[in-house]
Amino acid sequence: MEFTDFGNKLSSHSGILQLMDDIAKPLPRGIKAKPLGGGNPARVGEVEKAYRRELEKLLADGDSFENVIAHYDSPQGRVGFLRTVAEFFSSNYGWNITEDNVALTNGSQSAMFYLFNLFSGKANGRTKTILFPLMPEYIGYADQGIEEGTFCSVPSKCEYFEDHTFKYKLDTEGVSEYLSKHPEVGAMAVSRPTNPSGNVLTDSEIGKLAELAHSYSIPLIVDNAYGLPFPDIIFTEDAAPIWNEDIVLSMSLSKIGLPSIRTGIVIARKEIIKAVGNINAIAALATGSFGPVLADNLLGSGELTRLAKDVVRPFYKAKADRMEELIRKYFDGTDYYLHKIEGSIFCWIYLPSLSVSTLEFYAELMKDGVVTVPGEYFFFGSDEQKEGKPYPHEHYDKCLRLNYSGDDALIEEGVRIIAERYRQFSV
Ligand SMILES: Cc1ncc(COP(=O)(O)O)c(C=O)c1O
Repeated sequence: MEFTDFGNKLSSHSGILQLMDDIAKPLPRGIKAKPLGGGNPARVGEVEKAYRRELEKLLADGDSFENVIAHYDSPQGRVGFLRTVAEFFSSNYGWNITEDNVALTNGSQSAMFYLFNLFSGKANGRTKTILFPLMPEYIGYADQGIEEGTFCSVPSKCEYFEDHTFKYKLDTEGVSEYLSKHPEVGAMAVSRPTNPSGNVLTDSEIGKLAELAHSYSIPLIVDNAYGLPFPDIIFTEDAAPIWNEDIVLSMSLSKIGLPSIRTGIVIARKEIIKAVGNINAIAALATGSFGPVLADNLLGSGELTRLAKDVVRPFYKAKADRMEELIRKYFDGTDYYLHKIEGSIFCWIYLPSLSVSTLEFYAELMKDGVVTVPGEYFFFGSDEQKEGKPYPHEHYDKCLRLNYSGDDALIEEGVRIIAERYRQFSV
């Protein structure tokens, strides 16, 4: 038996596989997990109650439940929900969209897989690429290109502050220059908020990227899995929801309570939406109905965005503040920098004095049951090496991503151990 190149590429080890495996894998006997690794969001009671109420209404309404479970939705997604999404965004944000501009997918992870492969790979005798203009970027993208070598990136710039914090900045000139020299770029993509760093690209940075996308006639894919207006895990002021015909906006219901139900929402120009629906038919027949059924009334009535703003954002803001306090307390006296926590459910810590790579440090922490995600996986899309390392960014093997949405006591214990081990593994 022999796998194809496609088979080998998609079935080989990847960072995202390791991360998802770590979520479920039991640790050696007697070691309690301190889960700061994967991307599991928290349980938020008020949000759960809202979905429960929707489900109870469905169950009490004649044979509505049976009608939901007994039929496939269309490949583009549940039609009523596509309309609700279009109406919601056109009436609240003035976006000129109809249901033909909206498609659903089984989770936004699948949406990104479809989109990346729509715009990268062989086309008219050329190999097209996806440009990630702000590296480090989401580990879950790194292996999604079906063809080898189709992802490229521009390393982010970095600003350091005296209070042990730092912030990634878009290298606008670097991105412009890359685009001018590489006509094969088929699309640009960013996550906003950025997973892993918790950076939130400002309106002006997004505006610049959208202008560049427009002038090169390529789409700008904005992954809004943590963004506005839901789940609204954004703590900065200069970020507003944005869509226009140059932007492909990917959204998700995962971080607003429904990660297990797998609902991604794509808003884009009609040709792209048609393509996404057609890929769904081939890859999945249809999308799951439950996310749309549970979220339809909540979105249409404004309750979903109210929950996002009044419940989900404050919940994660409190967690983020607490995480920052813990890091300051336990890392005090060490050489560390914390990326400003502007959004998402992660913090990203730079440990310049680490004497080993973060892949090695991660393995060391695992022995104590502390699950983290090593930074190396978030740097991809470059052939350039720096000081013998596979990615030309000084942070390449010196950062850890920590999920701060879990149990407070376990997080504290995890941070304490990470700081203790950092002291042992410092040059
Ligand atoms: C930036 C980003 N995009 C997309 C996803 C995929 O989410 P889902 O497939 O659950 O919608 C995640 C999950 O953690 C993420 O962090």
